[in-house]
Amino acid sequence: MKRNIILCGFMGCGKSSVGKRTAKMIDRGFCDMDRFIEQKSGMRVKEIFEKLGEPAFRKMERDAAIEMGKRGGLIIASGGGTVLDPRNVDAFHEAGGVILLLDVPLAALQERLKGDKRRPLLQTPNRRETINQLFHQRMPLYQAAADDVIPAGAPTVVVAERIRDYMQENSLL
Ligand code: S3P
Repeated sequence: MKRNIILCGFMGCGKSSVGKRTAKMIDRGFCDMDRFIEQKSGMRVKEIFEKLGEPAFRKMERDAAIEMGKRGGLIIASGGGTVLDPRNVDAFHEAGGVILLLDVPLAALQERLKGDKRRPLLQTPNRRETINQLFHQRMPLYQAAADDVIPAGAPTVVVAERIRDYMQENSLL
């Protein structure tokens, strides 16, 4: 079975757009974990946080990570919090998955996330500070979880090509 490629990283780093583009480029299936959870629960992520609370969302995320592991050959866009839970990292790895961190500088993320209305963790009075704090807390954890790092400040297509090249060099295609 072909191995899953799991894209991780901070909100706004391009996991979904780059993942979709890469999958198309190399003719692989694509799965966005947030969308998968939304389809399964019939609720938007924002709604799940509001009505059921973050722990309920995190449980759905763990179930989704296990389910993804059962499928092979996918490009998976994880959520920004997915690999912060070592159980999810283990589930991906045990199923043979390769975790890649999409590395985007903080300043670029601030810019990309400026107008966001969809992400529950960013609906705070001082968004810049929230992003700043979360970024510094999370970056070491993303680095620990990832098998490799892909510089991802470039346009979507360029980052997708980098992932394709990485997969080729590492016999993952
Ligand atoms: C989260 C990131 C979101 C989504 C949820 C929680 C996080 O995904 O899973 O809002 O904890 O960073 P994106 O990274 O795709 O925005």
